[in-house]
Amino acid sequence: MDTISVIGGNQLNGSIPISGAKNCALKLMCAALLTDGTLSLENNPNSLRDINSQVELLEYLGCAIKRENSSMTINASNIKAYTAPYDIVRKMRGSILVLGPLLTRFGQAKVSLPGGCAIGGRPIDMHIKALEEMGATIKLSEGYINATAPIGGLIGAKILFPKVSVGATENLMMAATLANGQTVLSNAAKEPEIIDLGECLIKMGAKISGLGTDTIRIEGVKHLSGTTHSVVPDRIEAGTYIIAAGMCGGTLRLENARIEHLSAALGLLSQSGIEVEQEGNDIIVHRDIGRLQGVDIMTEPYPGFPTDLQAQFMAMLTLCEGAGMVTETIFENRFMHVPELCRMGADISVQGNSAIVRGVNKLRGAEVMATDLRASVALVLAGLVAEGETIVSRIYHLERGYEDIVGKLGNVGANISRVSGRLQL
Ligand code: EPZ
Repeated sequence: MDTISVIGGNQLNGSIPISGAKNCALKLMCAALLTDGTLSLENNPNSLRDINSQVELLEYLGCAIKRENSSMTINASNIKAYTAPYDIVRKMRGSILVLGPLLTRFGQAKVSLPGGCAIGGRPIDMHIKALEEMGATIKLSEGYINATAPIGGLIGAKILFPKVSVGATENLMMAATLANGQTVLSNAAKEPEIIDLGECLIKMGAKISGLGTDTIRIEGVKHLSGTTHSVVPDRIEAGTYIIAAGMCGGTLRLENARIEHLSAALGLLSQSGIEVEQEGNDIIVHRDIGRLQGVDIMTEPYPGFPTDLQAQFMAMLTLCEGAGMVTETIFENRFMHVPELCRMGADISVQGNSAIVRGVNKLRGAEVMATDLRASVALVLAGLVAEGETIVSRIYHLERGYEDIVGKLGNVGANISRVSGRLQL
């Protein structure tokens, strides 16, 4: 199994191109199921493992997909199956987003329950309940969601989500585009990735208003067409590299990244001592050597501090002046990076869904194990500033969500390399 080796101590200087957002691309790909036209995506993070899994699923359903560099075309005019099988869904939860599109366009869908993952149980009860409110009949059996729409198609409904859910908002927004009548999604999620998905659907002919607010209205239409759409930049990738620069010192230009998508995070980073600015389409982050200040963070739905930056921010806090408290409110088990960071010399104590991080003078390189996508990148960040070598194993977690992280960090001065075939103890 391959590992990543990082020798700490280098500053980071230069430019990093930011890829299209994984958590948008995966849903845009599902939106292709809503039309017999061709959906062309630009700035798509085509090399990610999760994208490969989604391609595998969509091709299994009958989609014709072509990829070249960061472009992808998807045509769903010849769908021959309505089942998303367990052995594909279990690899990547984003496949649950085929449920709404299949159900609203074809009147049926059989999708494996995605099951939990390392960070939590990840239920989809809100997806199911909301589709039932639109008239769907849904039976759960043998680990599958068996869904059928009423004869005339799904029926527009007023849906109030009890919790803010990115996936449920996206699944229902797509389902509502071809339903009969108006659907209102209240307590909807407001992430930039949802706005981008909605803007693409509008280009395909959907009638959607309220994107970016907690109330999204969709007027059902009979037919959607193909279109061309450029995927919104990945704010979590950008935030990760901003934190990396803050930890290592130096100046980074993050190409094609949008500062307004990270406002809550940047406010806290500024309190800790990391300043960033937008220059044209790029984000510039500069950090002189010197200790960062400890700050408290609490993850919240957008526009609050993103849970997907929590592990990375905690890695930064390990060397701060003073202490910082990290409270995770979105997922029930998103502190698995803590024991690994402690093995590198961090001083972190967890109480329930909060962790107190007390700054130490240095981290020591160690062999550490990745457990989920964002925990694994937090270990790479820690390795960039630790004394000696850090070896991160199970890097397939990283490859789900970060395009060419070794190349991108290596090009700006990090001493980082991929080591193939190192013995896994
Ligand atoms: C999306 O997951 C992202 N994944 C996650 O990113 C991200 O952390 C999360 O949104 C929150 O921003 C993708 O977009 C592929 P939710 P999603 O539905 O849609 C509960 C990463 O690292 N819930 O907003 O699954 C749920 O358990 C990943 O890139 C229900 O209870 O998240 C959680 O506590 C990790 N019932 C909360 O809501 C439901 O039916 C928010 O989950 C649905 C969700």
